[in-house]
Amino acid sequence: MNSVTSLIFFFLVIAVSAAPQLPVQTLEDPAPVTKIITCGGLIDASSAQIDLQVGGSIRADQRCIWLVKPPLNRQRFSLTSTGLGENDGLFVSTYMLGVVGPPIKISTVGQNHTLTSDLVMVTLSVGHGPTRGFSLTYFSSGSYVGPVLTGYTELTATAGNYSYPEDGGNYRNSENALFVIAPSVPGRPTLRFTFVELEFEGNCSYDSVRIFNWFDNNYIEVSRFCGTTIPPSLTLIEGAGIVTFRSDSSEVRRGFKFEWV
Ligand SMILES: *[C@@H]1O[C@H](CO)[C@@H](O)[C@H](O)[C@H]1NC(C)=O
Ligand SMILES: *[C@@H]1O[C@H](CO)[C@@H](O)[C@H](O)[C@H]1NC(C)=O
Ligand SMILES: *[C@@H]1O[C@H](CO)[C@@H](O)[C@H](O)[C@H]1NC(C)=O
Repeated sequence: MNSVTSLIFFFLVIAVSAAPQLPVQTLEDPAPVTKIITCGGLIDASSAQIDLQVGGSIRADQRCIWLVKPPLNRQRFSLTSTGLGENDGLFVSTYMLGVVGPPIKISTVGQNHTLTSDLVMVTLSVGHGPTRGFSLTYFSSGSYVGPVLTGYTELTATAGNYSYPEDGGNYRNSENALFVIAPSVPGRPTLRFTFVELEFEGNCSYDSVRIFNWFDNNYIEVSRFCGTTIPPSLTLIEGAGIVTFRSDSSEVRRGFKFEWV
């Protein structure tokens, strides 16, 4: 480049880098693009209608946990119809960086609840008597979010073993994985870790596993560990819990294994 072209190039670079980098704002879908009728699961869509037993009944103590994974960062939830009673609860919580936010109860038909979060957990917690179904919709809008989950599994059997990574190899760098334990037959499973091998740091601020126990309409963080620490076993007294796993950008190990019975 001669000096004149490099001067022009220099000003071009300035002009390009000075241009405001506005995120693209994308609008809501006109109608829900998919319908979900299962108790729990991953919903990978820009909008959805969750119809659980509309007009029918849901068993006592039922727990259902859906993970909403939309392409945009703002989620508007609204109940279209509900047969849930005052002892039942339908909640939405943010999920970011391995931490579940405080649940917000949705009980009024037509009211909007908007959350700014890349991922949202929807939790149904039925009281000690049978209840009736509901229809909940969400619409995502705002700016695009990148890939945010490296692992997700929903464990709905009454008992079982789970290990991560599932292939028995090492986990990867920059993981953000989530494991939902919500047996489809209501119960009080005990969660017991049998193997842990993560990068160690005194405050577990590099790689860590956290356990959240669903209790009193909230996800309570009951344990956070790393290294080779096996946490005490615990009972999911209200029949649901979440295990989250995060790793930083260096050092990988063999992960962890747990049993719930
Ligand atoms: C909920 O949000 C939608 C979309 O923005 C709007 O059309 C509707 O009027 C809102 N409903 C209430 C009760 O605020
Ligand atoms: C979990 O695995 C262990 C060891 O293989 C086995 O003894 C145990 O029965 C399994 N637990 C369940 C609930 O399947
Ligand atoms: C853990 O965090 C506390 C509070 O931030 C800090 O004082 C302490 O030095 C940290 N320990 C380690 C091992 O990093």
